[in-house]
Amino acid sequence: MLSLKVPLKNAESVKKQLMKKELLDYGFKPKKEGAYLYFPIKNSVKIKSAELVEETFEKKEKQSYIANLPREIKEKLPSSFDIIGDIIIIDITKDIEKYEKEIAASLLETHKSVKTILKKSGIHEGEFRTQKLIYLAGEEKKETIYKENDIQLKLDVEKVYFSPRLSSERKRIYQKVRKGENILVMFSGCGPYVFTISKNTEAKHILGIEKNPVAHEYALGNIVLNKAKNVELVNADVREYLPKLKERYDRVIMPLPKEAELFLMDAFKVVKKGTVVHLYGFEHEDEFYKAEEKLASEAKKAGIKYRLLEFIKCGNYSPGKFRVCLDFKIL
Ligand SMILES: C[S@@+](CC[C@H](N)C(=O)[O-])C[C@H]1O[C@@H](n2cnc3c(N)ncnc32)[C@H](O)[C@@H]1O
Repeated sequence: MLSLKVPLKNAESVKKQLMKKELLDYGFKPKKEGAYLYFPIKNSVKIKSAELVEETFEKKEKQSYIANLPREIKEKLPSSFDIIGDIIIIDITKDIEKYEKEIAASLLETHKSVKTILKKSGIHEGEFRTQKLIYLAGEEKKETIYKENDIQLKLDVEKVYFSPRLSSERKRIYQKVRKGENILVMFSGCGPYVFTISKNTEAKHILGIEKNPVAHEYALGNIVLNKAKNVELVNADVREYLPKLKERYDRVIMPLPKEAELFLMDAFKVVKKGTVVHLYGFEHEDEFYKAEEKLASEAKKAGIKYRLLEFIKCGNYSPGKFRVCLDFKIL
């Protein structure tokens, strides 16, 4: 996995910088070899005196974030949880519910920058893909400021869909953007794609369209927070809004993995020769071919010709099922 190789004398200051940027991977143990310390990290980063290298690391035992619990309970603890800004969101299954207060207290104790622990109650659902969350410990709040790829996003983690697990995928996308591009982000949420692109590229203009009014309000606030100059946001249903657009975009991003293909016909209305489209979906590993089948069928109906550029697995959804992205170019 990705790692930073740091001379021992600089280890403490590099660790602080990694923690501040929320790049340290707490699931693995840093290791010492000779005069160097190796930190497991989530994303590539440039830090003075540190070298980016590939390394293997020992997984931290789950107990590291939990004190004084029976062993059979420790074994059932989730191996990971999301940290969004200063909020931890954890999945507590029925069989360990009895211990949730102790688990939450331990998480607060072991994560000094975290102020609030929430637990998931159900899955992302509804048109806005939001998730009910229950307060467990710390400060009683659901709003936070999250940092990634040199941007900040303010959001309510219950009223707005957001996944910190997609930060490297967002980086993959912004690294493809060329100077002067006009970009459309459908389903833009509180703005993770919009702002990572605005901050890290020389795109000319980025339009984000989001239907959830709460997500849209946060996204508007995030324009100010990120001092973004080339971002325009609209609170609308893409289906109603896209037909009104005269612009034909250089790049169209479709981060609605559940049934995004149903919006392809709408997306085809704003493409031109050379447009690159990033189409997300959920597919089982035995049926990855279905992602392209769905695209091929919609493109045929619309009389659109395309060339497939890349197929990327960009996250786990459930056992055997992945979040995938198809990149294709309009011909
Ligand atoms: C999976 S979330 C992705 C949000 C954001 N792009 C991100 O990565 O955090 C999908 C988003 O699409 C929005 N949405 C769903 N249907 C929509 C539609 N017809 N028009 C515009 N936005 C829609 C939802 O409210 C939600 O915020």
